[in-house]
Amino acid sequence: MAANLKFLIVVAAAAATVSVSDAQLSSTYYDGTCPTVFDMVKSVVRSAINREKRVGASIVRLFFHDCFVNGCDGGLLLDDNLPAFESEKNALPNKNSARGFEVIDKIKAATENVCKGVVSCADILAIATRDSVVELGGPSWQVLVGRRDARTANKQAADTDLPPFSANLTLLINMFQQKNFTARELVALSGAHSIGMARCTTFRDHLYNNTNLDPIATTDLKANCPQSGGDDNLVGLDHQSPNRFGNNYFQGLMKKRGLLNSDQVLFNAGSTDDVVRTYGDNAQMFSDEFASAMVKMGNMNPLTGSNGEIRTNCRKIN
Ligand code: HEM
Ligand SMILES: *[C@@H]1O[C@H](CO)[C@@H](O)[C@H](O)[C@H]1NC(C)=O
Ligand SMILES: *[C@@H]1O[C@H](CO)[C@@H](O)[C@H](O)[C@H]1NC(C)=O
Ligand SMILES: *[C@@H]1O[C@H](CO)[C@@H](O)[C@H](O)[C@H]1NC(C)=O
Repeated sequence: MAANLKFLIVVAAAAATVSVSDAQLSSTYYDGTCPTVFDMVKSVVRSAINREKRVGASIVRLFFHDCFVNGCDGGLLLDDNLPAFESEKNALPNKNSARGFEVIDKIKAATENVCKGVVSCADILAIATRDSVVELGGPSWQVLVGRRDARTANKQAADTDLPPFSANLTLLINMFQQKNFTARELVALSGAHSIGMARCTTFRDHLYNNTNLDPIATTDLKANCPQSGGDDNLVGLDHQSPNRFGNNYFQGLMKKRGLLNSDQVLFNAGSTDDVVRTYGDNAQMFSDEFASAMVKMGNMNPLTGSNGEIRTNCRKIN
């Protein structure tokens, strides 16, 4: 009797924990209503990346910037809707920077065509992110779905909750901890910078004012990013292979070739040096831990049940 009661309490506590962290996402959510959704997303992502490799990286970044701001609710995808709300696209970390929205629109059009009003924009972004990483040579993971779309955006939260490129290690660790990620997960997730590009304006200070840079890489970078002018000049976050997802990013950090200040602080005689070395030496471990951290990111405060809506157009509330 006492043992049974204890068992019940343990089960109830476990159920409560699961409902907080996992909401009701599942891999089979669309099986009855839109069984081809995964094929449709993959096909559009593939052709978009075939046209322009970088857009895969851009989509991965959209997912991060969506999930870190009030959860994975597609809020970032909304355009301005004044006076009700201003778009997260206008927040400092996104302005003139977040891109790839047309690919999400294209996927939305395809899913609306086949299963009208069923697949959320937030889920499309989650699936497209996994497919982008896979298409660029990275690990795969099972994408849980069942998220619904926000009916509002939060530009202010986008400005405060997304880390700045100038961040030191303490700030990065704190900002990720706020979102329930460990320092090790911060390092794993930063490995997304093995793909994609950054504008000169985001790494100029690091390039000219810091000393923790490899002088050989520095010469090249300075040619592409002068001390004044050229703000929008683009450089690969991973100089070697910005279209190939992998652990070279960490090998680059070990050679002091981090492009952003926020990259190099992960390996600068601080508490995360060992994790950078571990991932730099062990591609499989990086892949596994990156994939787990991305699943965790996808579970950040999704809207489920009757919350939110299924947007018809990812840029507008219904
Ligand atoms: C740790 C803190 C982070 C900071 C400070 C940061 C900052 C930045 C900055 C400044 C850029 C270049 C933007 C531009 O020049 O327009 C960038 C690009 C990018 N970031 Fe991050 N990031 C961080 C973490 C992450 C995470 C966790 C992910 C994904 C899991 C990610 C994915 C990307 C990708 C893929 C790009 C390239 C996008 C493109 O080429 O369009 N970043 N990031
Ligand atoms: C790190 O950055 C924060 C915020 O910019 C600042 O308050 C703090 O003093 C910095 N810490 C170190 C160790 O430089
Ligand atoms: C972090 O965990 C706390 C406690 O479980 C939870 O209340 C909060 O919503 C979580 N934050 C995010 C961003 O998931
Ligand atoms: C470098 O640091 C100085 C002094 O803090 C600052 O005035 C300057 O804008 C920084 N950036 C560059 C690119 O020199």
